[in-house]
Amino acid sequence: MKQFDTIAQLLAQNRPGVTLPQALYVGEEAYRFDTEVMLKSVWLYAGTVAHAKAPGDWFLFELGSNQVIIVRGRDGEIRAFHNSCRHRGAQLCEAASGNSPRLICPYHFWTYNLDGKLLAARNMPEGFDKADHGLVPVALENVAGLLFVCLADNPPPFGRAKPDIAEQVSLYNLDKLKVAVQDDLIEPANWKLVMENNRECYHCDQNHPELLKSLSTYGFGKGLPEDGADDVVDDSAFDAMLEAQRQHWKDLGIFHDLIEFPQDFGGQDGWHRVARLPLAHGAVSQTLDGRPASRLPIWAHGLDEPSSLSVWTQPNSWHHFCNDHVVTFSLTPLGPDKTLLRTSWLVHEDAVEGVDYDPANLTAVWRATNAQDSYLSAVNHRGITSAGYRQGFYSVEEKLVDAFKTFYVDASVKALG
Ligand code: FES
Ligand SMILES: [Fe+2]
Repeated sequence: MKQFDTIAQLLAQNRPGVTLPQALYVGEEAYRFDTEVMLKSVWLYAGTVAHAKAPGDWFLFELGSNQVIIVRGRDGEIRAFHNSCRHRGAQLCEAASGNSPRLICPYHFWTYNLDGKLLAARNMPEGFDKADHGLVPVALENVAGLLFVCLADNPPPFGRAKPDIAEQVSLYNLDKLKVAVQDDLIEPANWKLVMENNRECYHCDQNHPELLKSLSTYGFGKGLPEDGADDVVDDSAFDAMLEAQRQHWKDLGIFHDLIEFPQDFGGQDGWHRVARLPLAHGAVSQTLDGRPASRLPIWAHGLDEPSSLSVWTQPNSWHHFCNDHVVTFSLTPLGPDKTLLRTSWLVHEDAVEGVDYDPANLTAVWRATNAQDSYLSAVNHRGITSAGYRQGFYSVEEKLVDAFKTFYVDASVKALG
């Protein structure tokens, strides 16, 4: 791809264990490359089945100039289409989300069924066949309720990410949940820095008092706190800690080994991580007091299990599954230094606001953590714009940052052909 020659040269400067060259983080061309090439070549997390719960519910997922309508049909299936009318191309859906029995273009009122078929188009010439003018589909995968889309003409195989994620996430019955709260936070930083920040807890002790009320930094790239040596990663200590929990998890039927960005030659390489992690300080949920935020459990194992499931996908999501609620995060770039972080808190569909859960309590930990992370990503971005920026070494606690960066570079090189 001639027009991205500079990007190809910058990618070639990549070295393991070291941050990317400056222009890949802060440049206009890198932003165009990311949104027009790299991010269109991979699977992106877009939302959950709870975001389109009833037939006719839809929401938009945006990537650069592309808008995708994700809509639940009358048959209960969730599908994705480009938000562009087959008549003269107008945007069909303008709001961020809604419910419609049919998708009707505001321009000349061509009308589409929820499955994308064109139902009505007035005064078209002889020989015009409605069957040839349905909405253009976008590839979508529903993984136990987590929805992923891919804008490529030939999406890469989903590979083993699907069974690996589905086996654990299906414990949490996403089709029985509702979105209690959704926050859109615009972070003043490049999307890759927001991702890098999510992939390490090297910064957690100093920055996340609310998060660390229920989570320990081990399992997020760091060793056990009881090692007494905060800055030493000890995988064997972490394994011993998990070993102690294993029998209990096996008895409950919720055990699995850590899945850590496996290379999958049948699909996308190294793009999913699935981990059940013990909660800290006796907590049973990721809340300020460690108690459930909602009175209704969302899985078969009640409200007292002191662990939670976490899922991370490259290149744009992470998720935490507690006994009583789920928090999911999707990330999309809006500009070279502007990133949309969408956070959704899901609770049982029967939970009543103000009775079973208090939205302020449900969101307290991650609202605080998101604000802290947004500040850290902004500081990182501003510093990288400096002429004094040099590619820096990741610490041993930042191996998952390196995994993200490696995925980014590999997927970029592949997309450039
Ligand atoms: S552009 Fe949609 S009906 Fe004309
Ligand atoms: Fe953080």
